[in-house]
Amino acid sequence: MTDCAAMPERPILSIGLFADPHYARKVYGERYCQDSLDKLRVCLETFNARNLPMAIDLGDSIDKVADKDAELAFLREILEVYAAFHGERHIVLGNHDLEALTKNEFLSEYGNKALQRPYYSFDKCGIHFVILDGNCNQDESDFGPNNNIWDQAWLSQKQINWLKTDLKTAHEKRTIVFCHENIDNRLWLEKPDPHLLKNAADVRAVLEQAGNVNAVIQAHCHDGTFMVINGIPYIGLKAMVVGPGLENNAYAIASFYKNGSLTIEGFGRQNSLGVPVA
Ligand SMILES: [Fe+2]
Ligand SMILES: [Fe+2]
Repeated sequence: MTDCAAMPERPILSIGLFADPHYARKVYGERYCQDSLDKLRVCLETFNARNLPMAIDLGDSIDKVADKDAELAFLREILEVYAAFHGERHIVLGNHDLEALTKNEFLSEYGNKALQRPYYSFDKCGIHFVILDGNCNQDESDFGPNNNIWDQAWLSQKQINWLKTDLKTAHEKRTIVFCHENIDNRLWLEKPDPHLLKNAADVRAVLEQAGNVNAVIQAHCHDGTFMVINGIPYIGLKAMVVGPGLENNAYAIASFYKNGSLTIEGFGRQNSLGVPVA
């Protein structure tokens, strides 16, 4: 299989997705952090067996541990496992990635220097992909050690300005947006769900005005979510970390079709989903 399928009945592109592995040597609540390396190995075996050209880690790759050295060791372990993927690798930053490490410390461990940025965009098979970083405080400072409240996450104004320009430049291209924190508008106990960016409404306005956003894929809310707002589907993936053993794995393959539709093929606890053209 080539990177970009040419047969009309086949997807233009299929990519591997996984979210919230929270790797560390611990278990707490329903989070079996220590099982995530084996879960990820199986996930990547599936992606490699399908010859997928690209995979995206939706964030919270590591969980919080006592000190920076231990955190770095866990990060290096999971990155080494991720390196077994044969295709192009991307990582979205999550709040748990930044509890003991700064963004620079996290990103500098990632082998591909071109991708050592908290937010960026690129094209593949004619599709525009945007990786967002929802890990900022209201005062525009970055999440980092002792400066990181999981339910007080913002997309910085600087990044919103960049996003507007990026989407405008790519206006003729179908665009898929990735963010760890959530950009939809669901409620929890009659208030905005705490997994949402505090300025999710501002970000949605930018996405809607651009007119070329085909889907938003997010993580952070471990149960997974799905809703469509003003024609844009917001797909939340289930967390890999939840539940013990390989029988509780969760990951997905997203396929993009020429008519604008997409599918999520779920594995383990991750449900499958067909998203027709809006
Ligand atoms: Fe998480
Ligand atoms: Fe998270």
